[in-house]
Amino acid sequence: MKSPYYVTTPIYYLNADPHIGSAYTTIIADIVARYRRASGYDVFFLTGTDEHGQSVLNAANSSNTDVQKYCDIMADRFERLWDELQITNDGFVRTTDKNHMKTVQYFVERMLEQGDIYKGKYEGWYCVPCESFWPADDLGDEKTCPSCNRRVRWITEDNYFFRLSKYNDSLIDLFRKQPDFLLPDFRRNEMLRILENGLKDLSITRTSFKWGVPMSSDPHHVIYVWVDALINYVSAIGYPHDRETFNRWWPADLHLIGKEINRFHSLVWPAMLMSIELPLPRHVYAHGWLTVNGQKISKSLGNAIDPREFLKVYSNDAIRYYLVRDIQFGRDGDFSEVNLIGRINSDLANDLGNLLHRTVVMINKFAGGIVPEPAEPTPADSQLVEIASWTIDEYKENMDSLRFTRAMESLWELVRFGNKYIDLTEPWLLGKRAEKKTQLDTVLYNLADTLRTVAMLISPVMPSTAEEILNRIGCDETFDLENVRPKMLKCGTSVKHGEPLFPRIDLSRHKRVIPPPDEVIEEDRETTIGIDTFGRVDLRVGIIVSGERVKKSKKLVKLLVDLGDLGQRQVVAGIGKSYDPSDLTGRKVVVVANLSPAKLMGIESQGMILAATDSDGVSLLTVDTDVKPGTSVS
Ligand code: MSP
Repeated sequence: MKSPYYVTTPIYYLNADPHIGSAYTTIIADIVARYRRASGYDVFFLTGTDEHGQSVLNAANSSNTDVQKYCDIMADRFERLWDELQITNDGFVRTTDKNHMKTVQYFVERMLEQGDIYKGKYEGWYCVPCESFWPADDLGDEKTCPSCNRRVRWITEDNYFFRLSKYNDSLIDLFRKQPDFLLPDFRRNEMLRILENGLKDLSITRTSFKWGVPMSSDPHHVIYVWVDALINYVSAIGYPHDRETFNRWWPADLHLIGKEINRFHSLVWPAMLMSIELPLPRHVYAHGWLTVNGQKISKSLGNAIDPREFLKVYSNDAIRYYLVRDIQFGRDGDFSEVNLIGRINSDLANDLGNLLHRTVVMINKFAGGIVPEPAEPTPADSQLVEIASWTIDEYKENMDSLRFTRAMESLWELVRFGNKYIDLTEPWLLGKRAEKKTQLDTVLYNLADTLRTVAMLISPVMPSTAEEILNRIGCDETFDLENVRPKMLKCGTSVKHGEPLFPRIDLSRHKRVIPPPDEVIEEDRETTIGIDTFGRVDLRVGIIVSGERVKKSKKLVKLLVDLGDLGQRQVVAGIGKSYDPSDLTGRKVVVVANLSPAKLMGIESQGMILAATDSDGVSLLTVDTDVKPGTSVS
């Protein structure tokens, strides 16, 4: 029976559409899943969506949609995107699935039975977009989240706590005894540093909103979205009701995640599993972050581009190849469209496309379109076969250790040598001499056979290209990386001529998905601004909580404004001649929320309130329906 291999991606928050950064984890997981399947494993590849919590709730509210309906729409968008990106996930878990919710309740009750959950009071800083609590020492100067840089908010609640601190030593032990539990290596030290400082217990329930899984024994509390989310890895494979399926797949072989969610996967999740005495996953791999053309991916910068936009211009396979060839897995990297085009032109068009084209043309010309039978090898033939064998070994070793870039590098040595082999053996000269027929046949066979090897090895990364190559050389085998060896191609099959696999892209005439900076239409700075510039202004609805006059100033008032998930802000405004600050409590105003803080008469102002000014004085801008604080204005 085949060995099982269980690989997962994080489950995606539904508060935003996916972009190339979020697609990255899923594409890598797909490459791993395809590689393992072709290597003889029985694979279960899981992805899904993380649908509870304040952040998703806020997103649904801002779009005026019932939250479950909002989740259904967004989850569908993710599923459709994965289809278009030819992602071969075997499962898609949603945290609003009934089964998942029941598992979460069961899991938490078991932690409770184990004496690992107690009731206490939580007071602390919370980042809504990351759904994370942060110690005050970790915050930025402006009370910003260390992970996403947005402002955190102060929360006080009666919560249930998980005794995470109890597992501090067991976790240290885990990292010491099983050094490859967390990869790449350098991530382990980050976790050990946290453990050396000592873990604090984790607040795992909330009462301030209802959008979550109610705790069975105290339904007034909903379970913290991260606890809910992590449990997806076991709920989706049948825990606890379908033990047979669960035991088949668990423990997971690989949790693939981004670096910013490492502590949840490498500390919290193992501790939760230890608590209810389930085995731990074999490996967690925390990869780096992608920027796009050197910039952080963000909605406000306009570069959180739907990956489908890239698919309209580049093939899916080219994008996948580029992502693993150029971005060293594990490290941060930049998704650069120019570099992508560079890879398409050099590696894919010049090297791979040419090798296929030349091979098919020559088999048509010198062997009537039929892959001929090889004869005694010359030294050049043997060298090609040797390089192919060596490449297969190197490739497997690197793919097994998730060193995709190295795997592709060694594979391309074979592709390039394939082209060189044509130059060395000069089939066009052999074709002119009848006595060289068997030598020529050997060269043609070896070329087709090399393409078979290449197709097999690139199949996890470029599945459609791999299929097309096999089709063109008349090979109807399925991808088998377990038994792949050179000189295994059956001869006597017909080759097919076709369009170039990867047409070259002329950079000077090509319309890029992300326009290069010099193509962005220069704004007329005197009179107009572009929509991008306007889009960078983060306007929010705020509710004035309290106000007072600034001492020694007639004009300035100091206001405390509630901006919903952005927290409360102190804003100093020049409205004192037109408004009595004590009358302003409860007023809805429009606030520029991403203005750099400034000091006015020694008092810090963390935003700006919009107002119209004429000869009669100042009039505050407001909204005319009951919009929630923090709602975006555009
Ligand atoms: N919902 C949590 C995960 C819960 S798993 C039990 C979450 N969701 S997320 O949507 O914010 O992120 C999902 C994945 O996308 C993470 O692995 C994250 O690292 C990845 N990426 C999001 N932006 C990214 C880049 N710019 N670059 C690379 N990966 C990035 O966290």
